[in-house]
Amino acid sequence: MTMYDILNKKKHGEELTAAEIRFFVEGYTKGSIPDYQASAFTMAVCLKGMTAAETAALTEAMAHSGDTVDLSCFGTLSADKHSTGGVGDKTSLIVAPIVAALGGKVTKMSGRGLGHTGGTVDKLESIPDFRTTLTSTEFLRQVETVGMAVIGQSGDLAPADKKLYALRDVTATVDSIPLIASSIMSKKLAAGSQNIVLDVKVGSGAFMKTPEDAADLADEMVRIGKLCGRRMAALITDMNAPLGCAVGNAVEIQEAIGVLRGDVHGDLRTVCVALAAQMLTLIFGWEESEAEARVNTVLQDGTALAKMREWVVAQGGDGRYIDDPTLFHRAAHSFTVPAPDDGYIAAMDTEAIGRVAVLLGAGRENKEDTIDHGAGILLQKKSGDAVQKGDPLCILLTERAEILPEAAELYVKALTFTETPPPVRPLIHQTLH
Ligand code: URA
Repeated sequence: MTMYDILNKKKHGEELTAAEIRFFVEGYTKGSIPDYQASAFTMAVCLKGMTAAETAALTEAMAHSGDTVDLSCFGTLSADKHSTGGVGDKTSLIVAPIVAALGGKVTKMSGRGLGHTGGTVDKLESIPDFRTTLTSTEFLRQVETVGMAVIGQSGDLAPADKKLYALRDVTATVDSIPLIASSIMSKKLAAGSQNIVLDVKVGSGAFMKTPEDAADLADEMVRIGKLCGRRMAALITDMNAPLGCAVGNAVEIQEAIGVLRGDVHGDLRTVCVALAAQMLTLIFGWEESEAEARVNTVLQDGTALAKMREWVVAQGGDGRYIDDPTLFHRAAHSFTVPAPDDGYIAAMDTEAIGRVAVLLGAGRENKEDTIDHGAGILLQKKSGDAVQKGDPLCILLTERAEILPEAAELYVKALTFTETPPPVRPLIHQTLH
């Protein structure tokens, strides 16, 4: 078998065997297949696509290219969720304590933010002394005793994907459904959970711009997970506006606490209830209506909030911040952006709003950049809202006072105003099993 023959076969649109795909993944991971052949492979996949069997073989080969986490000690209770990324997406911080409060074992490895999207690990580091790195023994012990742990990516999970993703990033080969699906699912399979819920975002702040593309991606990932013996569900949720009203780090933790305290309602709570209910349905086989009712109960009676506090303290964080979220550091300078005219907010360019948050210091452009946990945006109006000239659109928070005029201008430019109310968009487009 040679890489030349594999590339030639793929170029002509022929189906590759699982052995050929493993040959490529193993060779590329250990360095015997060079970047130029791997680039030709990813480009051929972008142009010719992959069959379901090829995508599954690629996923399995990448999942087994490095370490895998053994969660067999939790039987069928282990659960994980993955979001394809968005702005203001703090759902993991809410869903994980809800599911743990109801008996699930949530094992979550999260990423840092890059570009316009935020990362759970950065958000958690707003809590003084919170440890986002645990040894594997600490991780498993905490999941056993508390019911959940959330840490940064650790170990050598799916190194083939790490290498291939970096290559795709610079060869215009990211936007291929088989490549995205296998990339995400290889990491989820290596991370070991039996029950996996995917939150596939669609809209102006997401990878997938149309509900049809999002459904294709979700479908592919659900199919791969099931083929590999995992219980799977996927929700397709709207990212045509930031989720909730806080974008940043400390402000997003505060908003998550607000949902768990029962003070915050709206789109964020709705998506979290749906995700948690899907996870519990997978784990325990409950009917969706029963799962939702139980989720609402632990939100109302304070059990989920108490679970969040227990989790934060177990990872070294200061529990007083959960009891009193006003303790969180807030950036020194703030500016309230006024509405330029009367009308309705018809659309929000969510990616552009994510970039305003980065400009304020809440995110990073490059991996090495440090972030300012107290910076961010507090939305006062969202899509569909009526505004009068001068009404507050949002509050910008930053340590860099000099960038406030530019940030305010960019924020207003990210909004589309109309004279009549825009149509209402669905928040949850579809649920796939
Ligand atoms: N996220 C991933 O992990 N991989 C992709 O290919 C795209 C998004």
